[in-house]
Amino acid sequence: MSSLDLIRPDLRNCAPYIASDNGAPHRLHLNELPWSPVGSGLNYYSAEESSIKLEAELADLYEVASNQLLVTRSANEGIDFLMRLFLRAGMDSILQFSPTFSMYSFFAKLQGASVVDYPLDAENSFSLTFEQVQAAWHASVKLIFLCRPNNPTAMMPNLSLITALCKEFKDRSIIVIDEAYIEFSEEASATSLLNQFDNLIVLRTLSKAHGLAGLRIGSIIAQAPLIQMIRNAVPPFRLANPVIEMAQKALLDTTFVQKSVARIAVSRAILVPALEGLSWIEKVYSGQINSVFVRTMYAQDLLSYLFEKGFQVRAFNSPDLQHYLRITIGTEEQTRLLMEVLEGFKEK
Ligand SMILES: Cc1ncc(COP(=O)(O)O)c(C=O)c1O
Repeated sequence: MSSLDLIRPDLRNCAPYIASDNGAPHRLHLNELPWSPVGSGLNYYSAEESSIKLEAELADLYEVASNQLLVTRSANEGIDFLMRLFLRAGMDSILQFSPTFSMYSFFAKLQGASVVDYPLDAENSFSLTFEQVQAAWHASVKLIFLCRPNNPTAMMPNLSLITALCKEFKDRSIIVIDEAYIEFSEEASATSLLNQFDNLIVLRTLSKAHGLAGLRIGSIIAQAPLIQMIRNAVPPFRLANPVIEMAQKALLDTTFVQKSVARIAVSRAILVPALEGLSWIEKVYSGQINSVFVRTMYAQDLLSYLFEKGFQVRAFNSPDLQHYLRITIGTEEQTRLLMEVLEGFKEK
């Protein structure tokens, strides 16, 4: 038994689509138009080699081997691929610990799978223990999603918990660690455990600390045999050439992330105590992430008030979260303006 046996039986022998390109000057094999309205070779599908080169660069960035990484059009696409590969509609499920990133349940439902949701305790800072995962687990669970640090609560599952879970659920479930925000944290990535566990998958993205949400670049990281199985089941020509080029250009600036994380930390250090000082905010959940999660009885009024003042913050549909808002941490100037506006809310 290995983690590969958790893949949907009908996809285990999936043959990859081979987009062969032998470099012949007369490309008459892909039904492309020989000319383009904008030049730059956009009439041609992107070459597989360009994605492979970007994958090698991302693998270097994340300190994994290039056969341990599959580039995706965003972490969201990575989540979608995992749902499709592992979950049989009407039979399998995912396990998540709410409040957490809403796309896990969104994509599970699209796949016709169910969601085992274990709500964490606000009074306990939404922390998560090994025993809670054990208690919530069910035989239908193929994928266990942990977000680290967690959007929106900033809760940070530590590497010893992840190690224990990988061992406990070996051959039973895949542990998916979504590290979309890990650059904001000083903790080591769960990729450091990759060589020990074949049931560990780590998701990364360039959308957050890399400042490239508009490019849509993510990575699925796992042991090589699992990455190969995912690769076999995904369509070709996924990344556009200009996107690959822009990502490569951005990655040349090796200090951007560090500087951005430091800048966000400055804003956070101003915002968190200021929010805590507002009498009508009951609790501020913060951590090494670029947002804060606040509890206030006035969440809905505050949302409209802030919108009137030119600020959009995030409210939640779930009835359990009606008294919470998530505020992304912006520039120091935005933080200062936000605090000014929030102080005016009291007087309303
Ligand atoms: C926890 C988490 N994972 C993944 C994503 C999606 O990232 P991407 O922009 O790469 O799809 C987000 C975006 O908000 C997120 O909060």
